[in-house]
Amino acid sequence: MKKILVARKLLDENNKKILNLFDAKLNKEDKLYSTDELISLSKECDGILSFPTTIINTETVKKLPKSIKIISNYAVGFGNIDTIEASKKGIIVTNTPEVLTDATADISILLLLGASRRAYEGRLAAESESWNWSSDYLIGKQMTGKKLGILGMGRIGRAVAKRAKGFNMEIHYHNRNKLSLELEQGAIYHKNISELFNNSEFLSINCPGSKETENLINEKTIQNFPDGVVIANAARGEIIDDEAMIKAMKNGKVFALGLDVYRGEPKINQKYLKLKNLFLLPHLGSATTITRINMGDRAINNLNQLLNYKQKPADQVN
Ligand code: DGY
Repeated sequence: MKKILVARKLLDENNKKILNLFDAKLNKEDKLYSTDELISLSKECDGILSFPTTIINTETVKKLPKSIKIISNYAVGFGNIDTIEASKKGIIVTNTPEVLTDATADISILLLLGASRRAYEGRLAAESESWNWSSDYLIGKQMTGKKLGILGMGRIGRAVAKRAKGFNMEIHYHNRNKLSLELEQGAIYHKNISELFNNSEFLSINCPGSKETENLINEKTIQNFPDGVVIANAARGEIIDDEAMIKAMKNGKVFALGLDVYRGEPKINQKYLKLKNLFLLPHLGSATTITRINMGDRAINNLNQLLNYKQKPADQVN
């Protein structure tokens, strides 16, 4: 049986499957392995089942044992892995697309609603038992009929668009390329992000994290939004320049922000915590049982295809 290092805890349903197919070193205690531990535990293994918290950068890839043929990442994003260095070493990297689309799109809508309807302040007030209903108490922004910009119109972005139509929103998007009419479903394409931001009363960030998308929302680009924009980020923390965002949230350019992801998470820029117009979640985009089982299943299938069937894995990304 081929040997696999599983870098974090999997759900029981996934453990059953991986133990049927492989000699798998499970991490039932869910320990966060250091780089040295990861390298030494992967000795004699054929593959690694990695997680968004498993940082496999250039140096780590270089130090991985020669026996490693595949890193199967349990996430749709794979910014935690240096895929170029992996290719140089002949290591295949895979991800888990499709299976988390709906769960993540749901969280994008939750972030937009939580931010625009002031859910954080609402919770604080309700807990304090000192609030008093009145006609202008904790007034938020309504999504109905507004312009929603979607930054990154891949599977998740399109699923957000579908949900936003239930709010009668007008959908605008930016992508590297314009989508076919069938995929666009009436959404309006903007070649430049400045044009997209001009047309975004609400913005949902759903593009991958990469060198190209790092700090796309910055001091300069924020100026393109209409005053009082509501922004939600369910993609990667690095896409937002936090200092610029905090400034814009303080001066009202940004009415409110919803975040599920952070630069250097689980850390958060402490200045955010002083702001009430912030709705926060701890990276819950894919956190439903069915989605997590399907992600594990998909990650195990990729290992199985390559190692047991000698086929190209369905979700190879490098
Ligand atoms: C992903 O798959 O990239 C998600 O962020 C993990 O929850």
